[in-house]
Amino acid sequence: MSVTLIFASIIIVYLLHDFVKKLLVWSKLPPGPWGVPFLGSIPFLLGGPLHKILDSMRKKYGDIYTLGLFHKQVVMLSNWELVRDFFGRMEISGRPDAEEVRKHKRDLPSSSGAKDYIDAYLTEMEQQKSRGEINPNFSELQLRVNISDLFIAGSETTSNTIRWCVLFLLCHPEIQGKLQAEVDDVVGRDRLPSLNDRDRMPYTEAFLMEVQRLARLIPLGVTHAATEDVEIDGYQFPKGTVFMASIWSCHSDPKYWPDPEKFDPGRFLNSDGTLKTKIPSFLPFALGKRQCLGESLARMELFLFVTIFMQKLTFRTTTGRPHPKAESVDSFALNPPKPFQFLIEERME
Ligand code: HEM
Repeated sequence: MSVTLIFASIIIVYLLHDFVKKLLVWSKLPPGPWGVPFLGSIPFLLGGPLHKILDSMRKKYGDIYTLGLFHKQVVMLSNWELVRDFFGRMEISGRPDAEEVRKHKRDLPSSSGAKDYIDAYLTEMEQQKSRGEINPNFSELQLRVNISDLFIAGSETTSNTIRWCVLFLLCHPEIQGKLQAEVDDVVGRDRLPSLNDRDRMPYTEAFLMEVQRLARLIPLGVTHAATEDVEIDGYQFPKGTVFMASIWSCHSDPKYWPDPEKFDPGRFLNSDGTLKTKIPSFLPFALGKRQCLGESLARMELFLFVTIFMQKLTFRTTTGRPHPKAESVDSFALNPPKPFQFLIEERME
């Protein structure tokens, strides 16, 4: 037998072994589309907004299905009950690893000075280490947490939700009128709105909730990873399996939201005008063990921005133009509205 033949046989046996091993793992996961070698399902996820493609896959494979993304298994959870049950479990509350810090660490010795926050943080960490200081507040884990808190979690989310608020106000001037009437009624013009007014302003709260429902700002949530092998609903998920919750699908589910694309704050109100308390399939901040840490802060900020805007200002479409469409840029990580123009008018006393 020639060396080439032996070599080819070894490769074939290895590939077969790898294939059978993967098949065994896959057979215990929720069924999903077949993938192509190495790329998995990636070729089938191109050609449109990812959350919409995934929502159409849901129609074919059901509310839970598995995708292969390169060598990773990614389990899609597309209804509220599944997200609640999976994300409520400790074993599904890990995060897939972050690459960026490693890249910065590798490049750090060659950099002539700190280019950015990560560099500055890593340099400080090194200096503390060389001085023999032990500071638990400076660690790579802490750095990763800070980056996501600062740049993604804490600022872009709230500011883009405010953009959506303005856009929906332009699209629905009658709703703007109701918000202004509520703030005039509860707060008046002599003082600024405060958080103490929240309980007496159910329409404003309902408006903010409807904005968050239809903005679907983080359409696919933030990925979770299994921290150990875990069995749920008869499926066996190996450690490292990635889970994604389609907030987009949950917020568009006609089972919970009749005419889901219609903007209607009334969905969140009882017939007597009070705010509903138990709201299924509404999870702008996700849910479970890793639910957004900034939820209450974000909701306070949104309330104050919108009530102060409504007390002082009226948003109008630019003269001679129809109101902008409530369309998003359709990015799968964060879903801001498309840029739009508008006029701000000060409200007269
Ligand atoms: C409208 C505004 C916001 C929205 C829609 C939002 C949404 C979310 C979502 C969907 C997650 C993922 C939860 C999961 O993994 O299942 C998350 C995580 C997180 N959010 Fe927010 N968020 C907002 C504002 C904020 C603010 C203002 C802060 C802090 C100042 C914040 C801090 C965090 C942190 C630290 C996490 C990670 C929690 C963890 O890993 O355990 N968020 N957020």
